[in-house]
Amino acid sequence: MNHKLFLGVETSCDETALALVEANGGLRAPKFKVLKHIVASQIKIHRPFGGVVPNLAKREHLKNLPILYRKIFGVEKKEIALWKKIDAVAATVGPGLEPALWAGIEFAKTLRQARGKQLIGANHLEGHLYSFLLPQKGQLYIKNVERVFPAIALIVSGGHTIILYVESLKGWERLGETRDDAVGEAFDKVARLLGLPYPGGPELEKMARKGNPEAISFPRPMADSKDYDFSFSGLKTSVLYYLRDNPKARKIDVAASFQKAAIDVLVAKTIRATREFRTKSVILSGGVAANKLLRKKLGERTRKEKVLFLVSDAKYNTDNAVMIAVAGYFAVLRKKKYKLSAQGNLNI
Ligand code: KG4
Ligand code: ZN
Repeated sequence: MNHKLFLGVETSCDETALALVEANGGLRAPKFKVLKHIVASQIKIHRPFGGVVPNLAKREHLKNLPILYRKIFGVEKKEIALWKKIDAVAATVGPGLEPALWAGIEFAKTLRQARGKQLIGANHLEGHLYSFLLPQKGQLYIKNVERVFPAIALIVSGGHTIILYVESLKGWERLGETRDDAVGEAFDKVARLLGLPYPGGPELEKMARKGNPEAISFPRPMADSKDYDFSFSGLKTSVLYYLRDNPKARKIDVAASFQKAAIDVLVAKTIRATREFRTKSVILSGGVAANKLLRKKLGERTRKEKVLFLVSDAKYNTDNAVMIAVAGYFAVLRKKKYKLSAQGNLNI
């Protein structure tokens, strides 16, 4: 089989990431081997501001990229040998923060010029979607992609909450998405209300572990609506009012009850879509997919429905360049060409 070696470049938000991924098998039997996976997080830089500052993110990407590059390519002799094996560079072109995206795109363009390789624009959301194909603990590869499709995919991140009907590795349709805040954004905002540092999602999950998820009954926005759209800003506001009106509330209970409400909505809509479209599997991806309760609940419900539940290891749920190399590989196979410029609002 024809192996292709891809260098992935990811700078859409506050993680600078590079990866080397060997891909083969095409659209029928794709297989990936992760040779390098490096992520430099900018959490400490943005933490004092309570969120990501786009121009600071860009500055940090510009500083980090050459450092990560050296970590992968080492000294000149190794560098030259490695470039001989690389087939293409894939860089995220969107969606994301445009100044941050530009840092990665310009870096990748410089590499293309210096090394004479193909440069591919990659869609960050496609990267998240495809991440279930990456090698994982216990189960090395999805051996037969035909058993996966049609599928429902739930992409949950800091900027997106999307439900897709996925027909194959080449085609899908958006069934619904959030009308206001993304679910990760809601986690981050509620975490802030609870006095937790940025990025709040993982911190809130930790706090919620000690609390009672049934203590407070927060609303489940749009859980019963007929469509597949979401809305999370009302839930966040309910938490705000609850904390205002109950200053002595146990924060661990607020965290656990909020988390349960958000996850209930995600799971209910995903399972309803699976039933309506009679899919063979549910694919979960994006930063919020790292949440253990969400993985557990969706795992349990899909088992009941007798559909496959596919989710990558947590390290590939949050932003990384491995998924970007994978998205680049599939973009070539699908003959999908993205402009090599920052597209902040690119969708899937
Ligand atoms: O995919 P991602 O790394 O970046 C975007 O593309 O947005 O997702 C980041 C989001 C943040 O909102 C973060 O708080 C959330 O994912 N997140 C979590 C967890 N880990 C990351 N939310 C809830 N529980 C977690 N364990
Ligand atoms: Zn992401």
